Amino acid sequence: MKVDGKPYRTIWPAQDRKSVEIIDQTKLPHEFTTLRLTSLAEAAHAIKSMQVRGAPLIGATAAYGVAMAMHADPSDTALGQAYDRLLETRPTAINLRWALDDMRQRLKALASTARGAAAWRRAAEIADEDVAINHAIGQHGLGLIRSAASKKLKGQRTNILTHCNAGWLATVDWGTALAPIYMAHDAGIPVHVWVDETRPRNQGASLTAWELGRHGVPYTVIVDNAGGHLMQHGEVDLCIVGTDRTTATGDVCNKIGTYLKALAAKDNDVPFYVALPGPTIDWTLEDGVRDIPIEERDPTEVTRMTGRAGDGRIVGVDITAPGSKAANYGFDVTPARLVTALVTERGVAPATRQGLLGLYPERKKAAAGE
Ligand code: MRU
Repeated sequence: MKVDGKPYRTIWPAQDRKSVEIIDQTKLPHEFTTLRLTSLAEAAHAIKSMQVRGAPLIGATAAYGVAMAMHADPSDTALGQAYDRLLETRPTAINLRWALDDMRQRLKALASTARGAAAWRRAAEIADEDVAINHAIGQHGLGLIRSAASKKLKGQRTNILTHCNAGWLATVDWGTALAPIYMAHDAGIPVHVWVDETRPRNQGASLTAWELGRHGVPYTVIVDNAGGHLMQHGEVDLCIVGTDRTTATGDVCNKIGTYLKALAAKDNDVPFYVALPGPTIDWTLEDGVRDIPIEERDPTEVTRMTGRAGDGRIVGVDITAPGSKAANYGFDVTPARLVTALVTERGVAPATRQGLLGLYPERKKAAAGE
């Protein structure tokens, strides 16, 4: 997508072809800054500190992290260490494990002298594949927005609620949940997005609002608790969110608070769609609530907020009494029964095992235990 007229991805190879550049997402929306990652350690730090975040982008960054590790030392030991170090950075997004498994499996089969170049090529392919996947998700999701828009009176906008950031900043480009919205806007459909602020890290207020605004999509930021009220008053035509891990049965893990939006949507007959790339499906899991590890982050993310002060400085402020205890669960799981449909690069399907296997028939053998 474009920033001030210049096309960007969220991660791209630097000129030396040995390092990568990223957008430092911890600085948005106040500053647009890029950073160079030159080593495995810097890639791991970027994921852990959320300079890059969003399941698909975490996967692509990890792939480049392995490539940088192989450039420094292509031995089996270094490959194993890179895998372990990157895997422990964020526990919930399954794209991380998917990308690391893919890299390790391909590189293990090669002589160590061939690993550096091959790792770099495969990381670039993973990034390119993510862009193509998200473009296809956009096309499939566009059909759903078109159909909602066709029920509106002429000149009325279609109101879409989203949670967290599942836009181009969470992927390599386009985004998952936001790709259909960009395409609808570009096709001249009058869309308006309700953006959940998404405490505690405010990915909605800081990132989703920023990227929608840069593209010219009308939006309004709301507090996390406003969605139910808007749905009761007919102000939401559909919800569309992303996911960090979806089980083989269609349970959806996403940023904390997603589940409550899905409950409100069900109660108000508002369609609740989840957009996801194939690598976000964890085919090994059946029960999301029981089996998906939920990241618990530093409680100070709850007790402190960062923002721009009146004099332009970026400052942190405490919002709780000194010594207040806080708990910081990063994600929750929305059971498949609350999801109207899953939107993938291969099409739209019910959030069921059959629905997913219909789109990914190559998984049927594994599901049958063959
Ligand atoms: O903790 P984050 O910012 O890495 O959270 C991930 C997300 O951006 C969302 O949960 C998103 O909706 C799914 S990733 C496209």
